Amino acid sequence: MEKLALITGGSGGLGECLAAELAAKGYRPVLVGRKEKKLQAVAARCGGEIFVCDLSEKEECRRLYEAYRKRPVQILINCAGFGVYGDFAGTELEEEMEMAAVNSLAVHRLTKLFLPDMERRGGCILNVASSAGLAPGGPYMAAYYATKAYVVSLTLGIAEELRAHKSRAYVGAFCPGPIDTPFFDRAGIGAAVKGAEPLQMARAAIRGMEKRKILIVPGTANRLACLAARLLPTRPVLAVNRRIQEKKGRK
Ligand SMILES: NC(=O)c1ccc[n+]([C@@H]2O[C@H](COP(=O)([O-])OP(=O)(O)OC[C@H]3O[C@@H](n4cnc5c(N)ncnc54)[C@H](OP(=O)(O)O)[C@@H]3O)[C@@H](O)[C@H]2O)c1
Repeated sequence: MEKLALITGGSGGLGECLAAELAAKGYRPVLVGRKEKKLQAVAARCGGEIFVCDLSEKEECRRLYEAYRKRPVQILINCAGFGVYGDFAGTELEEEMEMAAVNSLAVHRLTKLFLPDMERRGGCILNVASSAGLAPGGPYMAAYYATKAYVVSLTLGIAEELRAHKSRAYVGAFCPGPIDTPFFDRAGIGAAVKGAEPLQMARAAIRGMEKRKILIVPGTANRLACLAARLLPTRPVLAVNRRIQEKKGRK
């Protein structure tokens, strides 16, 4: 029987690697993004089908759901997202609102829409957050960090509800550190440290999902950094984050 893995942000970066890995495991990827040619190129490499839509618009999230609600979507990975960099006083409000719509609200909407079907027939929703979502805040990427904290909190809250009523559905949050993808170009920044290989990160995400881990934090250094951010006092952690972000802006 056909098994679909619907991957938002499937037109490149981490999303493409997730699609390739899931295709190798027998899923038919559904690649979702705005750029048709890029989606077609990924589909030519990984197989599967494409769905062109702009997830910053709520009607488009609904259109995606309506198109797939009757098909056997066993995995939904909410991976689409982007970052906005700069001093909060100087960044564009509308760009940040669009970022919040894609990074947080589309994740919220699609989880809300697909989860009941997955509770009935079983299925997995993996929400791609970031180590940024586990930090107390991110100077110079304040709004981006906030969008990812939203995803982590929403996902973990739902995960515990599902556990309490022994649901057949799974939700989890994936919190990687920097990954070597076009993310940094779009945000107009450089990486402070060398990013991880996207294929390695995709594998870690899928391994975590298969083990039904509700919080997947890949890599020892990343795990330690996330732990320190939670245990240490807030002010020094924010100061370290500021220095890291300043370094990104200089590249
Ligand atoms: N790279 C990192 O260091 C890093 C670290 C932690 C977490 N993450 C997260 O990982 C996820 C994937 O990012 P990436 O690193 O793979 O970056 P990427 O290569 O820039 O990919 C971003 C994806 O999001 C899609 N997207 C952006 N806006 C969209 C919209 N309005 N509607 C539909 N799709 C949209 C893009 O597709 P189109 O352009 O075709 O629309 C693209 O496929 C993001 O959520 C990011 O926040 C990245």
